Amino acid sequence: MPRKIIIDTDPGQDDAVAILLALASPEDLDVIGITTVAGNVPLHLTSRNARVVCEVAGKLDVPVFAGCDAPLQRKLVTAEHVHGKTGLDGIELPDPKMPLREQHGVDFIIETLRREPSGTVTLCPIGPLTNIASAFLKAPDIRSRVREIVLMGGAYFEVGNITPAAEFNIYVDPEAADIVFKSGAQITVMSLDITHKALVTHARVSAFEALGTRVGRAVAGWTHFFERFDVTKYGSKGAPLHDPTVIAYLIQPELFSGRHINVEIERQGEFTCGMTVADWWRVSDRAPNAMWMGSIADDGFFDLLTERLARL
Ligand code: RIB
Ligand code: CA
Repeated sequence: MPRKIIIDTDPGQDDAVAILLALASPEDLDVIGITTVAGNVPLHLTSRNARVVCEVAGKLDVPVFAGCDAPLQRKLVTAEHVHGKTGLDGIELPDPKMPLREQHGVDFIIETLRREPSGTVTLCPIGPLTNIASAFLKAPDIRSRVREIVLMGGAYFEVGNITPAAEFNIYVDPEAADIVFKSGAQITVMSLDITHKALVTHARVSAFEALGTRVGRAVAGWTHFFERFDVTKYGSKGAPLHDPTVIAYLIQPELFSGRHINVEIERQGEFTCGMTVADWWRVSDRAPNAMWMGSIADDGFFDLLTERLARL
């Protein structure tokens, strides 16, 4: 029985690859909806991009809902320096034909969690957590109905990517992240500690290109484009492919391992705002509230990704 998921996203090239991996895996995942959030680029672009990706995959029946256009309390911070001005730079793609759904993304999340049997819907936030927190604030009853939240965000051993202390998704909306991490829902975290071990090397980009398909060319173009920021910054062998790790975990959890620990969100620090204070060594007496992943079988991850993308 495929697992019902809602992908909450701010595409972003890595978000795009995550969405494609999910849409290429119908035996594992039933994508009942995609909700967009402001993050890498403003909401009108993330909402365009999510539909562009569905059309690249040939999956025009996936409902896409626009969510929040700004963080709960703070001014929006975007990341065009990483993702380009469209958020999907790297390959030219036409504007989408499929429409956005009328309903607000937050209301779609609430309605879906109230309609589906409790414990059957997994939330997959791969951008700032504004939509998820807004849904939990508007409808506290849904918190206990979520099967699991598997999110990309945060960092501990790898520290920050948007500031020295904070990872982008958490930094954009730390108040939202705090609400989610205190919600009582079962949370699994794919932080930079994982994604910085999932680097898109030239060989891996070539494997995408070798698919010889529209999807292979798009993924190669996107991953090639957004590696330039990381290679300049980290001198790495390639860009970390952040968001698809969330989807890969749902398909092959054995690729990952981690610890159930306490994670708090710093919201006051002059230099540390947005930091995920992950008690990996359990030195505090704070109750564990998240499964924090620490290792990934990166070859297995890219083998899974390339094999599934070949299906589209
Ligand atoms: O820090 C990486 C995260 O920020 C990824 O989700 C990327 O898409 C951006 O949203
Ligand atoms: Ca993202």
